[in-house]
Amino acid sequence: MRLEAKVYIVGAGPGDPELITVKGMRILEQADVVIYTDSLVREELLQYCRPGTQVYRSAGMTLEEIVESMAAHVRMGHSVARVHTGDPAVFGAILEQIGLLRRANIPYEVVPGVSSVFAAAAVLGAELTVPELTQTVILTRVGGRTPVPEGEQLRDLARHHATMALYLSATLAKKAVDELLAADWSPDTPVAVVQKATWPDQKVIRTTLSGLVRAMGDAHVSTHAMILAGWALDPDIALEDGHRSRLYDKTFTHRFRRGVANHD
Ligand SMILES: C[S@@+](CC[C@H](N)C(=O)[O-])C[C@H]1O[C@@H](n2cnc3c(N)ncnc32)[C@H](O)[C@@H]1O
Repeated sequence: MRLEAKVYIVGAGPGDPELITVKGMRILEQADVVIYTDSLVREELLQYCRPGTQVYRSAGMTLEEIVESMAAHVRMGHSVARVHTGDPAVFGAILEQIGLLRRANIPYEVVPGVSSVFAAAAVLGAELTVPELTQTVILTRVGGRTPVPEGEQLRDLARHHATMALYLSATLAKKAVDELLAADWSPDTPVAVVQKATWPDQKVIRTTLSGLVRAMGDAHVSTHAMILAGWALDPDIALEDGHRSRLYDKTFTHRFRRGVANHD
């Protein structure tokens, strides 16, 4: 691929530099300018950049400074990689940047990344959609200083008994527990927390709803953590019968395999 003079909003993945997409890596290799969220994106990703790449760390910059700098570089004919943690579309705060870029007529393209929900599930070796148990994952946050819209309180969403993936909620674990209990979740419901998934200092906690606050306190986990809750997180669920996907059932036919029972 050949880069153009525009802003590439790139998902860096959860931490491990090998978990960026090939496309994201190619953009880092070729970009004239890289602006990355240094509080959340691993610095090791810069190993992909060529010598001479201009690098900005965005944690100390305002939104206007970030966008003005990206726009100025694009107007000079430069390609700019704006690197965000995980996938930019989930709690990535890209909308406000896109709004300002569009107003300034600066072209942009979004390149997806591996969100922390999927990195955490991988670390746990878990499937979040378990046949006959839940076929839904709800990606959300607990409302705190940043409120959530009416009707999206955790207790409302939790009535579905789907797998819950809680971003930005490590300091609100007590509220998460209260809300899930208020939605009639059992105190024994399995919960897993992965802090800094795929970073060298990653921490994993496996507990239950009733044990969550204490377990997070004991492990000193209060930032940068993904909380996954629901029976899909039962560490032994893979050993239970009755959760097999119909896709591989020998009596279930689909376009790519005709079932044994239906062979003529
Ligand atoms: C500003 S949001 C960014 C989310 C990001 N866009 C994503 O797709 O993962 C930051 C929150 O994402 C979660 N997070 C991001 N990276 C993580 C990681 N490596 N391990 C665990 N949680 C992570 C945490 O809940 C953190 O509070």
